[in-house]
Amino acid sequence: MLTGKRILLVIGGGIAAYKALDLIRRLRERGASVRGVMTGAAAHFVTPLSVASLSGQGVHQELFSLTDEAEMGHIELSRDADLVVVAPATANLLAKMANGIADDLASTLLLATDKKALVAPAMNLRMWLHPATQRNVARLREDGVLFAGPNDGSMACGEYGPGRMSEPLEIVAAIETALQSETQIPLAGAARSRGPLSGRRVVITSGPTHEPIDPVRYIANRSSGRQGHSIADAARDAGADVVLISGPVAIPDPAGLAVVHVETAQQMLAAVEAAMPADIFISAAAVADWRIANAQTEKIKKTGSSLPTLTMAENPDILARIGKSSARPRLVIGFAAETEKVVAHAQEKLGRKGCDLIVANDVSPASGVMGGDENTVHLVTPAGVESWPKMSKAEVGRKLVERFGKMLEARL
Ligand SMILES: Cc1cc2nc3c(=O)[nH]c(=O)nc-3n(C[C@H](O)[C@H](O)[C@H](O)COP(=O)(O)O)c2cc1C
Repeated sequence: MLTGKRILLVIGGGIAAYKALDLIRRLRERGASVRGVMTGAAAHFVTPLSVASLSGQGVHQELFSLTDEAEMGHIELSRDADLVVVAPATANLLAKMANGIADDLASTLLLATDKKALVAPAMNLRMWLHPATQRNVARLREDGVLFAGPNDGSMACGEYGPGRMSEPLEIVAAIETALQSETQIPLAGAARSRGPLSGRRVVITSGPTHEPIDPVRYIANRSSGRQGHSIADAARDAGADVVLISGPVAIPDPAGLAVVHVETAQQMLAAVEAAMPADIFISAAAVADWRIANAQTEKIKKTGSSLPTLTMAENPDILARIGKSSARPRLVIGFAAETEKVVAHAQEKLGRKGCDLIVANDVSPASGVMGGDENTVHLVTPAGVESWPKMSKAEVGRKLVERFGKMLEARL
């Protein structure tokens, strides 16, 4: 449900603009309020009167409008929402967003807002597949912009392919998902919010490691980095100075914190040691236990006669190293990804690695945890085990950070 949620809906000038009218209706049915902003081009496709009637609010169209600016300035308008939704997101709007162009009300709001944007692209398939659009889309994803669609389908122009705007109910579902996580964008750099971890330094590892076999092959694991990155997001939102050390992942870097990209376990250890000292160390990465000792510098060739022999060597144990180091952070948190005897293995790991708490999770294929959006975790400490119900990884991240903040406070 979207009860009480405020959506700022930017309508671009595309043929799919008529679907934005249905989207407004669907959002309001679910209890959200919708404030419409139309580009100049959008008004050629749907009338401001339709948008105003369906949203039950005035429609904003002009940047230099004396009346609008006096009633609600463009900065205030850009902040007065829980989420900014762009539907249809034209190729032109995506290009402006990706390049920070602010030459009308819609694009200025999109640059000035402190909330996440969710875009529903809609355009002819050649426009969508054009390298310029694909470059802009990749950049927007990196910037943390959320996407709903586009879908494959037949277009108003008679062609068939990708570029068709998602249906209103699909966009509603994407909005509901987006609103389950924090939508406030932190200010990168200077002005950090004050929060329970304000002034604390948190170092977090996330994602898998890749251990090379030769220059083109490696061994890896299925970690997506979602849980570790969510913890980094939550620690930043709690005001911490965060260093995220990430293995190779397909998800974007969180905004407003320092990210170090590494590939192997050895590189990860070096990056963690370089990031010390810290108040909290959270080892959420799925670090490979072994690397290939006889990794080749040239690609191994198929000879037809003999199979290559790979020799394994044990990787450094990053968690144990930090947990037992002389510069040990006040709080050291480990993760245990197990496919059986989840809690028992975590309890054994707790003492062996010298950490204060182990977050244990079941990563057996049936659990859907590796790569999925949800997690069921058990908090294992010397005092006992606390099992949390299944929830989104973002929620797990927030609750864990809240707990770590309290643990740190108790130790100061
Ligand atoms: C009939 C017609 C349909 C259009 N449909 C689309 C569309 O679906 N997607 C798109 O990106 N541009 C479309 N355009 C082009 C945009 O209207 C044009 O690029 C405009 O500058 C977009 O302005 P805006 O991004 O400020 O809304 C269409 C143009 C016309 C004339």
